[in-house]
Amino acid sequence: MSTLVYQFEEIAPRELKPGLTELDGISRATIEAHYKLYQGYVNKRNEILTKLAAVDLSAANQVYSEVRALKVELSFAVGGIKNHEIYFEHLGGDGGDPDGQIGTLIQRDFGSSAAWRSDLKATGMAGRGWAWTAYDWDEGRLFNYVGDTQNTFPIWNATPLVALDVYEHAYFLDFQTDRAAYIDAFLDNLDWGVVNDWVGKYGIPK
Ligand SMILES: [Fe+2]
Repeated sequence: MSTLVYQFEEIAPRELKPGLTELDGISRATIEAHYKLYQGYVNKRNEILTKLAAVDLSAANQVYSEVRALKVELSFAVGGIKNHEIYFEHLGGDGGDPDGQIGTLIQRDFGSSAAWRSDLKATGMAGRGWAWTAYDWDEGRLFNYVGDTQNTFPIWNATPLVALDVYEHAYFLDFQTDRAAYIDAFLDNLDWGVVNDWVGKYGIPK
């Protein structure tokens, strides 16, 4: 019956790390709002993959629209998972200027940490859902990319190292409409040690 050949395992939401609900300027209620959405995306991802596995491709013409809908929805759910896992993991620090290897990369590719910060902030103000600092393996450099939703607009072969959530749920409770103040608070809570661990783990070259 089903001819979609792939395997998948159900995944479970990661636990929030301790201290994440005690950030400066970003409240527990806001982190809980993100987490609730994140749990929903994990459930959705599992559900969509189950549905995809049950699609009967022998009725091809009838199922293309269903396959399309499920796969687009999957990209939204998976984006919501990946982006939030980066977001949760790299908050809980003291912000400030990036140090270590990420500091060197930012200095090289943006000229200064202040220039990186203002470019990321502008990108976050311009986007509708996300802004990312990512390393593009083909171009061999960092860049701040804009995302309207969590599944737009990924760059292939680039690795996100900073994920700035600018959806309304990220700031409205704490800052009402002042998204810029929220972005400052986000930057003040970044944990550069975590980002440097990723730079090392992924083998991003100097
Ligand atoms: Fe969020």
